[in-house]
Amino acid sequence: MKLRIDKMLSNSGLGSRKQIKSDAKKGFIEVNGIVEKDSSKIIDTEKDLVKYKGEVIKYVQYIYLMMNKPQGVISATEDNYAKTVIDLLKDEDKFYKPFPVGRLDKDTEGLLLITNDGQLSHNLLSPKKQVDKTYYVEVAEEVTEEDVKSFEEGIVLKEDNYKTLPAKLQIIESGYPSICLVTIREGKFHQVKRMFKALNNEVIYLKRISMGPLKLDETLKPGQYRHLTEKELIALGGQK
Ligand code: URA
Repeated sequence: MKLRIDKMLSNSGLGSRKQIKSDAKKGFIEVNGIVEKDSSKIIDTEKDLVKYKGEVIKYVQYIYLMMNKPQGVISATEDNYAKTVIDLLKDEDKFYKPFPVGRLDKDTEGLLLITNDGQLSHNLLSPKKQVDKTYYVEVAEEVTEEDVKSFEEGIVLKEDNYKTLPAKLQIIESGYPSICLVTIREGKFHQVKRMFKALNNEVIYLKRISMGPLKLDETLKPGQYRHLTEKELIALGGQK
């Protein structure tokens, strides 16, 4: 990646661009062993060796964020009308041009991975990989053991007669409303809502709580996000 030295260093959390500019003038920055006093110079992060105050700075190319997506915000990078999950990010994170991995409906909450790692996104979304996604679901009507069986067998959706892959329904509380956990391996449009609709029930609250090995950090309030930990990143197959 080619970018200005001040951008590279400030994005690496080493201070504001103003601060970096002043440090460059003081001779604190070296590029390929030569002091560089102009912090607006463009460097190539793959080829040039940048040192700041004597330390080699490895530029982070990929960003991996876990968001607890709030309701009312759409899982897209831009939209003419609605607020997007990217609008909720700090400028220093937007810089990496991240995008959400897959979609949650506007009224769905919960775990959303936001990254600029296209390969990882592809791996997580590829139908071939069948990554498990688990949702906490509240539905209007009772859920029954028969529903559990229907989920296990796969459900024929109403609009297009698509038969879903076998899915897991765990009943936590059956009543009006009912509470359950649903694990699916695909990501068809409105899938969980449509699966319940096919069983004459209605989803009234939906929250994703896990995706593959990644679990929603419940300390994140809706709208908050954080960087993945190294452990989470390794489990997911991201790049350091
Ligand atoms: N299934 C849905 O119906 N909506 C979502 O947002 C995710 C899964």
